[in-house]
Amino acid sequence: MVQIAPSILASDFARLGEEVAAVEVAGADLLHVDVMDGHFVPNISIGVPVVASLRRATDLPLDVHLMVSEPHDFIEAFAEAGADWISVHVEVCLHLEGTLAVIKQRGLKAGVVLNPSTPLTTLDEILPEADHVLLMGVNPGFSGQAFIKSVEGKVARLRLRIDEAGLPTLIEVDGGVNQDNAGRLRKAGADILVAATAIFGADDYGAAIKALRAGP
Ligand code: DX5
Ligand code: ZN
Repeated sequence: MVQIAPSILASDFARLGEEVAAVEVAGADLLHVDVMDGHFVPNISIGVPVVASLRRATDLPLDVHLMVSEPHDFIEAFAEAGADWISVHVEVCLHLEGTLAVIKQRGLKAGVVLNPSTPLTTLDEILPEADHVLLMGVNPGFSGQAFIKSVEGKVARLRLRIDEAGLPTLIEVDGGVNQDNAGRLRKAGADILVAATAIFGADDYGAAIKALRAGP
């Protein structure tokens, strides 16, 4: 069954502990944490201290998505803060194999992220090293953007490739995921759906998570 990872980017940061407890009760499988540096993406969000606080506030695995220009420099700090999964963008990792190795040496799940316009061929040499591949459904930087339709086909093509290679790699989809496209993304082969607005923008987090997991 697909896993649901609420992204706290659309939560009320002044009440972050309550918001996290609410999605945990509502059935979240992972907590997606968007880290932005104002360089790789045109926005600034949160960093290491917030991950450390979240670690004390929840038992949910912390899925840290690094949207920063120099991700390698921050792996150790996020691992120390309590991240369980760390995902880095293929567009900025000069030594991707080495960065994934550092994440895995810490006992964490290592993921590779592709922007919507980054082709799957960038995974050619690295796919077996990744615990998960995160396909962006929007150009990263903000929650609340519309899903870029072509990414549905990209999910299906990646699914085929992973299955043909007999790999255990999970496919995560992030950005613009909502009740309307979740069914198609599940069918295309997504294992994890990330959603900020579709969950934190809803009145009933439980119903929102249920719809993403098993709706039409
Ligand atoms: C986008 C972030 C996403 C974002 C998703 O840069 O990586 O995780 O929070 O937000 P929604 O679900 O609202 O598109
Ligand atoms: Zn994200």
